[in-house]
Formats: sequence, C-alpha cells, structure tokens
Amino acid sequence: MMKSIKPFFQPNFVSDFARDILLKMDPEIAHRASINVLKFAPISTLKEEKKDSKKLHINLCGLELKNPIGLAAGFDKNGEVAGILGKIGFGFSEVGTVTPRPQKGNIKPRLFRLMSANAIINRMGFNNDGHEEVYARLIKQKSNNIIGVNIGANRDSEDFINDYVLGVKKFANIADYLTVNISSPNTKGIRDLQAGEILKKLLFAILAQRAKEKIYVPIFLKLSPDLDERQMDEIAQIIGESNLDGLIISNTTISRPNIAGLKYSDEMGGLSGKPLFNLATKRLAQMRQRVGKEMPIIGVGGIFSSSSAIAKLTAGANAIQLYSALIFSGIKLLTEIKEGMEQALIREKYDNISAFSNMNIDDWANGKMEI
Ligand SMILES: Cc1cc2nc3c(=O)[nH]c(=O)nc-3n(C[C@H](O)[C@H](O)[C@H](O)COP(=O)(O)O)c2cc1C
Repeated sequence: MMKSIKPFFQPNFVSDFARDILLKMDPEIAHRASINVLKFAPISTLKEEKKDSKKLHINLCGLELKNPIGLAAGFDKNGEVAGILGKIGFGFSEVGTVTPRPQKGNIKPRLFRLMSANAIINRMGFNNDGHEEVYARLIKQKSNNIIGVNIGANRDSEDFINDYVLGVKKFANIADYLTVNISSPNTKGIRDLQAGEILKKLLFAILAQRAKEKIYVPIFLKLSPDLDERQMDEIAQIIGESNLDGLIISNTTISRPNIAGLKYSDEMGGLSGKPLFNLATKRLAQMRQRVGKEMPIIGVGGIFSSSSAIAKLTAGANAIQLYSALIFSGIKLLTEIKEGMEQALIREKYDNISAFSNMNIDDWANGKMEI
C-alpha cells in the first residue's frame, strides 16, 4: 500500500514561521501583509484540515455558527478577506468599523505592540474605505460564512446618529448581523453615545431604520470596558426597553492595567490583548447580571488560550471574539482553542459548548475570579 506523503510544511510550522516574520515588521506593514496573504494565497494552503465538531456548533440570534469563535472588528476593516475567514476556521467574522465616507484615520505611528505583555495599543481612528467601497467588496464575496458589519461615524460628521442610520440602511441587506460601535476611544465624542437620552435616540433611530429596510438583521451594541456601575445600570435599562438583539463586550480600554513601565505603555489609544482580559470579563459579567440570561452577548477582550476562551463563556458570553492574541500567537491559536474546548467538553461530559455559558457570572462580576 502506498504511504500518504505528509506535506513538508506542517500547519503549525507555517503559522509560527509566518508569525515570527510578521512580528519583526512594523505593525501596520505586518497587518497589510497578513491581509494580502489571506487575499492572494491559494485557499488550499489556508484551509483548515478538520471540520468542526458538532459540539462546538451554536445558534446566536438565529445565526448558525459552526463554532463560537469570531474574529473581532479591526482586522478586516474594509471587508477584503471576509469571505475567506470562515474557510480558515472562524465561526464568524466582523468587518469594520466602516464609516459613511472614507477616512484616513490618525497620523502614524498609531499601532503599538507591547511584546512582553502580549498587548496592543491602537489609535487608528476608524481608517477605512467608507460604505460604498466596502459594500461593493462584500457583495462580491457573499458566501456561507457568517459576516457581521461593524458601523461607526465619521470623525467630522455633524450628525453621529445619522451616520449609524446610514450604516443600517447600507448594510442591512448584506450583513448577517450589524454591530453599532459606540465604544472606540479614538474618535472624539463616540463614547458619549453610551449615555442616557442620546443612547435612547440612537437606538430608536437605528431600530426604526431596520424596520424600514423590511429585512431582519440582528443588531449588537459594542460597549466599552471603561463604564462604571451607574453607566451600566443606565445602559441596561435603556436596552431593556428596546428591541436591540445583543451586546458585544468589550472594546479596548483607555486604562492601563498591569503594563506600567513597558515600552509604549504611555501611548494614547485603546489597550487590547492579555492585560484587558480581567477588566473586559468583569464588565461582561456585570452587564450579564443586569440584562438577564436571555440576551445574546459576544465576549471579547484579552482571550489568548482555550481556558481564557472558556472563562469568557462562563462569565456570561454566548460566543466570543478575539484579535490581539492572533498577532502574538498566529492563526494556530484558533485550532488550539477549538481543541481545548473539545477536551473540556469531554472532561465535563457536556454535549455542547453552550453548556459553559453563564456558569460563573457572579464570581466574575464581583472580581472573585481572575486569570
Ligand atoms: C488594531 C486594532 C484595531 C481595532 N479596530 C476596531 C474597530 O475598527 N472597531 C471596533 O469595534 N473594534 C476595533 N478594535 C477592538 C477589537 O475589536 C476588540 O474589541 C479588542 O481588541 C479586544 O479584543 P482582543 O483583546 O482580543 O484584541 C480594534 C483592535 C485593534 C487591536
């Protein structure tokens, strides 16, 4: 019998090799290179070998996800590789943030790696190609992958709320879900939309626009981890009175937990990656306590391993997203998380990954649990 020939380049080797090269480059050039590899490499070299176990399959707002792990907003800002991300193993991915008009974002440098902390600070400032161009790209890539579109407002807009309404209008018929990003620290005034009357107005306007589109697309609100208890009470009450579908918790933080003294730690912008994990997970659990167990929540912030991914579920997430850890660990992290999840399911004798959701909300909310 003929022996099957194993490829010389094993997937993990390729992943580590690529990651090491990328980490030596300027962060924005490395980002461009990663997008180009995904765009131009033959799909057979990127495709995951193994199909996801049924045990990882979840339903989120009616969306059938082959696994609960999504790529967070910020990597594929312009929808260049949305069609491919599902093929390389993500359960879903999020394009954006996209604003109505194209904009360049802040001046460079605006992206910093804090290597020893596995953290990133960014002040990109919604650099993106704008609604028209991103829409045209997504139309061409329509596939079975679950693709969300994260919408925002132009920094020089005279009417932030209208920019979000335009986002719903543009993408409702093509996105599997929409994310309303009111938590980026890098556009002045955006985070103020998380409060009181203005949040009510925003939700009313975007949900009315969805109704006008006559197409049901789930809408998620993406929140900041820098909210305090009073702000969270207010948000929970307002969304409880609306038809909002779910939450994404969280965006980057302007606080600087556990990175004092490190190179770049004083750079302005939002911090993501490992040092964000405890704060983002605490906020997730605290919002879960407030909104009850029914509302779908996507947990994001600092996930770097299968155990941190599962911890995020136990704190109140139904699905998760990640970004920064991929920069430090490479794409093999995705396979590692899935394998770790499957092992945990066997160990605990659970049939499905959703069994972990909401198990330890209170301990995460009051800070008893930390990683
Ligand atoms: C370079 C970079 C750019 C980002 N851009 C966006 C963005 O445009 N919109 C958004 O909602 N979140 C953006 N994020 C935040 C991520 O989606 C995510 O919420 C955050 O990084 C926490 O997850 P992580 O620790 O796994 O990276 C960005 C993050 C990074 C690192």
